[in-house]
Amino acid sequence: CLQVATNVTEQKHHVTRETRGQNLGLCRGFRGCTVWLTGLSGAGKTSIGFELEALLVSKGIPSYGLDGDNIRTGLNKNLGFSQADREENIRRVAEVAKLFADSGVVAICSFVSPFAEDRDMARRIHKEADLKFYEIFVDTPLNVCESRDVKGLYKKAREGAIQGFTGVTQAYEAPDKPDLIVKTEGLSIQESTQCVIELLVKENIIP
Ligand code: PPS
Ligand code: MG
Repeated sequence: CLQVATNVTEQKHHVTRETRGQNLGLCRGFRGCTVWLTGLSGAGKTSIGFELEALLVSKGIPSYGLDGDNIRTGLNKNLGFSQADREENIRRVAEVAKLFADSGVVAICSFVSPFAEDRDMARRIHKEADLKFYEIFVDTPLNVCESRDVKGLYKKAREGAIQGFTGVTQAYEAPDKPDLIVKTEGLSIQESTQCVIELLVKENIIP
């Protein structure tokens, strides 16, 4: 049975975003936001996300990569890949990313997040908290992801050993109006990451 918390009230922090931005880290100013990478399995979300994380940290900008494979062995280990479980996966991650972003960290989320409605929810969670949210479509065609098949999951999915595999036996809804589309085909990880960096420079997240 589902228990819902009642009689809970929002508790206000004493530290404002401005104070966090002025006092913490090497880079003055509040830069907390969420960079959301969506795309097929094997599209390059993790590679770009972790490359971006390393670049930001090297510049003294606090940042942390939240990745589907990792989160699903910890916080979300009780979730599978049904539509409902994917929604709950994204909801929890969006709430966690919101907290990271509110603390002044650039939260980099790399999740298949195949359903537009769930990504919209993630955006809404940030909007309601007055935090920037950048939806980035890591646009790698299915045939390219499948030919890479880094983890051998497409092969398993084609053989019927994995149910509900994105792009094979479950839908991937490409974003309608992402903040950025990165077409990775023919690009190195560094070149793909550079596209995201340019967006963050334009947005004054990277000084
Ligand atoms: S989702 O859709 O956002 O909830 O998925 P996510 O949390 O990003 O987890 C995706 C990673 O889990 C592995 N995997 C699957 N992906 C898609 N569909 C199915 N059925 C599936 N089963 C396991 C896979 O390693 C995904 O990682 P990436 O990096 O995308 O390949
Ligand atoms: Mg990955």
